[in-house]
Amino acid sequence: MRAITVSDDRLVLTEVPDPSPGPGEVLLDVAAAGVNRADLLQRAGHYPPPPGASDVIGLEVSGTVRELGEGVTGWRVGDRVCAVLAGGGYATRAVVPAGQLLPVPQDWELVDAAALPEAVCTAWSNLVDVGRLAPGETLLVHGGSGGVGSVAVQLGRALGARVLTTAGSPARAARCEDLGADVAVDHHDDVPAAVTAATGGRGVDVILDVLGAGALADNVAMLATGGRLIVIGTQRGSRAEVNLLTLMQKRASVHGTTLRSRPLEDKARIVAAVRERVWPMVADGRLRAVVHERLPLAEAERAHALLDSGEVFGKLLLITDTA
Ligand SMILES: NC(=O)c1ccc[n+]([C@@H]2O[C@H](COP(=O)([O-])OP(=O)(O)OC[C@H]3O[C@@H](n4cnc5c(N)ncnc54)[C@H](OP(=O)(O)O)[C@@H]3O)[C@@H](O)[C@H]2O)c1
Repeated sequence: MRAITVSDDRLVLTEVPDPSPGPGEVLLDVAAAGVNRADLLQRAGHYPPPPGASDVIGLEVSGTVRELGEGVTGWRVGDRVCAVLAGGGYATRAVVPAGQLLPVPQDWELVDAAALPEAVCTAWSNLVDVGRLAPGETLLVHGGSGGVGSVAVQLGRALGARVLTTAGSPARAARCEDLGADVAVDHHDDVPAAVTAATGGRGVDVILDVLGAGALADNVAMLATGGRLIVIGTQRGSRAEVNLLTLMQKRASVHGTTLRSRPLEDKARIVAAVRERVWPMVADGRLRAVVHERLPLAEAERAHALLDSGEVFGKLLLITDTA
């Protein structure tokens, strides 16, 4: 098969041996791979794959089932699927634990389905399992213009929350409102002031944060009584101080999670919940993949430069010639 490898700090398409599916795993012919900000971190050596995972970059794919490993039930060769992976997505073939597969119905674009697994599983597990977001509550999504954020905005709305979000320009904020955000703010402006204005000073019930340390004080200040701050990214650093007295007075909580490092059974549980609860939202149009551009797999280098440029809205996809 062909896979993207890092050579002299460049991403190059290389011929490599096919992976083979172990017990409980499935081999896929990859149609497309989603590009995530974490891929840039992995390439720079800051986010190594967990033990046992492929060292090929790529956390999500869509494609068709090519081969079933021992003991796999419920899937057949030729099934159209997408999947969340611990690694190995930037390739023409990928091995996936069967519990991480989601079906792609005939009337969905197989390529575009690669934009969903990582963002949907991340948004679902954090907003629902960790954040316990309830209908009528207010959600703040930092970066509604991003791959995860564009899905979290739509999911928050579909769950019945009032959704506030941020993006890097007025035009990008307007696109977040088109996705269903009630209020979208340019993140270069005074976000806490905008949140105060939008909530009548009450604050928000849940914050999905991709910024980390640099936003911690503002985030805690923006929480309503009983609020839940969930940190999933550290784009503005990972070490900060928090005023515990403020948290105590608000009876608020701060959580941190990662999807990639979770045990297989955790990921399978999240994927099963997504299939039951989120897939119907995709089927009826309440939630859609937001695809900025589809590039050939061989242009992974250009895809990373594009994501780094800050121009991408939603998700970039790398498509194989099997698509
Ligand atoms: N913990 C997990 O399980 C998990 C899973 C998936 C992703 N993540 C993390 O989540 C983050 C987003 O991933 P992604 O793939 O969705 O990346 P992405 O598509 O590049 O999105 C990044 C988002 O961050 C926004 N942003 C950048 N600087 C900002 C600032 N100063 N204030 C507010 N927003 C700002 C961007 O807004 P503009 O472009 O409009 O400026 C954009 O919406 C990454 O840090 C990634 O590592 C974590």
